[in-house]
Amino acid sequence: MTAGLDASKLEITKAENLKPMLPNDQLVFGKTFTDHMLEIEWTKDQGWGTPKISPYHNLSLDPSAVVFHYAFELFEGMKAFRDAEGKIRLFRPDMNMIRMNKSAARITLPTFDDEELIKLIEKFVLVDERFVPKGEGYSLYLRPTLIGTTASLGVSAPDRALLYVIASPVGPYYATGFKPVSLEASENLVRAWPGGVGDKKLGANYAPCIKPQLEAAARGHQQNLWLFGEEGYVTEVGTMNAFFVFEADGKKELVTAPLDGTILEGVTRDSILELCRERLPSSEWTISERPFTIKEVKENADAGKLVEAFGAGTAAIVSPIGNISWKGNEIKVPVGSEGTGELTKTVLDWIMGIQYGKETFKNWSRVV
Ligand code: COI
Repeated sequence: MTAGLDASKLEITKAENLKPMLPNDQLVFGKTFTDHMLEIEWTKDQGWGTPKISPYHNLSLDPSAVVFHYAFELFEGMKAFRDAEGKIRLFRPDMNMIRMNKSAARITLPTFDDEELIKLIEKFVLVDERFVPKGEGYSLYLRPTLIGTTASLGVSAPDRALLYVIASPVGPYYATGFKPVSLEASENLVRAWPGGVGDKKLGANYAPCIKPQLEAAARGHQQNLWLFGEEGYVTEVGTMNAFFVFEADGKKELVTAPLDGTILEGVTRDSILELCRERLPSSEWTISERPFTIKEVKENADAGKLVEAFGAGTAAIVSPIGNISWKGNEIKVPVGSEGTGELTKTVLDWIMGIQYGKETFKNWSRVV
């Protein structure tokens, strides 16, 4: 029998040289890391090995390791927050573990016991506790990563793997802060397709998005809005899920693409839908997960019925969308005098209120 992941076996080796902790205003997303990292090796014969927290270090891998050749790689994005009392909180870590295991199963990397990895991540966060920044909008971004390490050019299921977690103290994801982002809708390229892996958090989904993003950036847009099919179904932004508010029949509709395999199953997306269903009056609001096209967005904008739009993801939390460029059309999204729509600001406050422990909602905020 092979061993399951067991947090009680954790071994800790503390770093001797401690890194400086940068002030919040110098934090750049994902550029600086904490003193330590968490690692667990897996082999097909033995299962999960001893979890280890040790000083942050380079990895040493055979150049033939399957991660480099066939993209046996997946990751998660999650955050630890410091609340007003100084306690550290994780936001819905169970959701990240479920998604990570789904990604692993899809590319034949080993799965693990969710709760054991959460316990290990908590211990890791406590070891590097001083890097969890104080202040709303700041957090410790955690990057659980799983790679196939089998040294072989054969294309087959890895028999060795490494799960590791690194952590980076962060502020706002976009250098522009909480300002409306400008998107360019994709034209001839596609990010994901039904039956593909666009709903899994695989590194392989991200690299192909960079060239279109650079091209969009050269035309003044921060991100792409990925469309699918002849009809131009709106899917997601690549680093965020996308939400739109339309006015229809005297009510407002909050609409986002359904989980049909072409969008990432965002934890922030799920949280926003649940909070909106619970808190927005149904006499005034319809909350929809349904297919919708960029044409529908434009027609609503032209008719003055596009109320607001925002992106949502772990890194960005909630980010107002101010403009979408599509086939030479500029779709202007109202952002009001505050630079953000009303619901955008409201859901950001709701999510951050729970993340920073100012309010309790179900068991979404887990004190470490
Ligand atoms: C996240 O929101 O955590 C992401 O994974 C987006 C990006 C930084 C890759």
